[in-house]
Amino acid sequence: MSRQLDDNSYSSANAIAVAGLNLALSFENASVERLEKRLSECIVPEVKQKILHHLDQTKKQQERLRERIRVLGTGMTPTSEKGRLAIPEPPHKLKMMIESSSSDKEREVWESLNDLIIERAEAIMYRGGIQALQLLKADKKTIKELDKCLKEEEAFGDWLEKNNPKVAKRLMTTQIEDKKQGKKKMRKTTQEEKEEAVSAAAV
Ligand SMILES: [Fe+2]
Repeated sequence: MSRQLDDNSYSSANAIAVAGLNLALSFENASVERLEKRLSECIVPEVKQKILHHLDQTKKQQERLRERIRVLGTGMTPTSEKGRLAIPEPPHKLKMMIESSSSDKEREVWESLNDLIIERAEAIMYRGGIQALQLLKADKKTIKELDKCLKEEEAFGDWLEKNNPKVAKRLMTTQIEDKKQGKKKMRKTTQEEKEEAVSAAAV
């Protein structure tokens, strides 16, 4: 009887663990899609390089999670569905206004903040998952694999937190300079046009 109880509690703990792993996998599936989109739109070379590196890590994280789901073998298959990433959603009108009036540089700053929020949320998810698996006395190898994922999320999050302000400052400074140059050019052209008109009238 007690053996059966142990077996039952083990299999239910395993089922919860696998459900959690599948949940993490659904977020990583969504993450791959977002990182690929960011890679195609990002205008800052060093950020692009980091995104590419993290995309590669995320694909490996998917593989790790799939492998643990298969090994724990509760009959649940690794999901190919995508969870919803932790991106703050502004009110519709405000979002439309920001998106339609933003420059590429402003959009980059905006999205780099979302990158950071996502990575921090992923780290929180893995930290909570590890704690839950430890409480459930789940398979040690699975906990170790989640810890690898956690370290990668934290490392990318730390990089973004450190570098986002520098990149934003550079982008915004360039934008202000470009605008100044543009105004100067416009002023010069208008002046030249006026002079041309005066000399044409004088002929
Ligand atoms: Fe990540």
